[in-house]
Amino acid sequence: MKTLNRRNFLKKAAITTAAGTLGAAKIHALARPAADEPRRIGPNDNIQLALIGAGIQGQGDTRTAVQVPGVKLVAVADCYQGRLDHSKEMWGKDIFTTRHYEELLARPDIDAVIVATPDHWHKQASVDAMKAGKDVYCEKPMIHLYSDGPAMIEAARATGRIIQVGSQRVSSTVYAKAKQLLAEGAIGQLNLVNARWDRNSSMGAWNYTVPLDASEETCDWPRFLGTAPKIPFNPEHFFQWRKWKAYGSGVAGDLFVHLFSGTHFITGAKGPTRAVASGALRYWKDGRDAPDVMLGIFDYAEGFNLSLRVNFVDGGEESEGLVFTGSEGTMEIAGNSVSVSRSPHPKGPGQTVGTYTEAMQQQLESKYSQQYPPEHPLGVPPMQYDKYVAEPGYSDSYDHFNNFFSSVRSRRPVVEDAVFGFRAAGAALLSNLSYEKDAVVHWDPVAMKVV
Ligand SMILES: NC(=O)c1ccc[n+]([C@@H]2O[C@H](COP(=O)([O-])OP(=O)(O)OC[C@H]3O[C@@H](n4cnc5c(N)ncnc54)[C@H](O)[C@@H]3O)[C@@H](O)[C@H]2O)c1
Repeated sequence: MKTLNRRNFLKKAAITTAAGTLGAAKIHALARPAADEPRRIGPNDNIQLALIGAGIQGQGDTRTAVQVPGVKLVAVADCYQGRLDHSKEMWGKDIFTTRHYEELLARPDIDAVIVATPDHWHKQASVDAMKAGKDVYCEKPMIHLYSDGPAMIEAARATGRIIQVGSQRVSSTVYAKAKQLLAEGAIGQLNLVNARWDRNSSMGAWNYTVPLDASEETCDWPRFLGTAPKIPFNPEHFFQWRKWKAYGSGVAGDLFVHLFSGTHFITGAKGPTRAVASGALRYWKDGRDAPDVMLGIFDYAEGFNLSLRVNFVDGGEESEGLVFTGSEGTMEIAGNSVSVSRSPHPKGPGQTVGTYTEAMQQQLESKYSQQYPPEHPLGVPPMQYDKYVAEPGYSDSYDHFNNFFSSVRSRRPVVEDAVFGFRAAGAALLSNLSYEKDAVVHWDPVAMKVV
């Protein structure tokens, strides 16, 4: 377990390559022959990192990533000038910034990139980066379209690059403890998982602030749109993209995906085989096309059902958690803790005798007490309760980046590779599919295909 120790990330990056020259020349790596062999990183070398998509999560990810010893941010790509300028304010004026991520990928001194763009750019930016010889930390949900999954898995295989997907909790010590408890039989055989992520505030419902200078000069609108339908510049779409499925993946891709990653990591399950979802746009009727309430039910071949809920519709507090129900108790993950309540079934089934004659009641009670002598003085088994809490200040995001950068150095597998990421996001997106088709949908979690 590692507690965050904030390093002075404002220390100026000692970049020797001339950022200005590259920027002026407008070199696009993918318009040129493939990048040379990736740089070999010696044990004492820094891992040189670049960020693609310097918004809310990209900045947060980078702040965490550069706290891992031996990691240095050298370049940032984004479509909005204000975020490039703020990157220099945060990480020093010497970092290289560009609106075209291909210019980062062309640089041989960059080893790894964080892809924290909107979802509809995850596949293209990750595949381009791997083809240019970079290791990739790609934010969740890994995919926006089902066709993204095989393309990303194949790019990782063909290039031999590392890709870690960013559902951070997968590296959490709390989840590791939950996995261990389940494997040890703390709640018996798993039958049901109930999970929720309710975000009942305007910010929780994705109404992020649009900067006052948003314009076609400060925002590279065609680049933001990418493969999305071409529409005139729209600052809400640019800065609040999650509200439209052309760029985002709805509450399923935004939040269900974390609950799937957690469920899959803890249970070892590959994914659901059958899904049905319901939902609606109830409260935030502000032009968005993604529902603000969604409920999903999923069947697992491993022998349990999963029920998920997200709602954005009241003004209360955010509430998130998973409850695993087994044959002998429940295990709950809430915040930075996991707790187990053990309540195995008593051997005796109990009986309903009060409606019979007194003589019959006496006979039945006498027979029952011979067959099932009291197991416990009070007649009911005592509830056993156990709780594990991560230490104060614990950051699972740090551990997730630490896992990624260790793999970048060792070339050993990461904890959340493209197959894991596709299985989690593919399962999450079944909810959108079921909702849109108004039908039960099926998924082959081994082959990772909608059936
Ligand atoms: N792991 C988590 O807990 C977590 C939390 C929040 C967000 N995320 C994920 O992170 C990603 C980013 O979310 P966000 O909230 O930071 O969004 P954001 O809108 O704040 O940031 C996205 C940034 O990407 C830039 N961008 C868009 N297209 C680009 C392109 N082609 N090249 C370079 N930059 C481009 C935009 O200009 C913007 O600055 C999303 O995929 C989201 O699902 C993950």
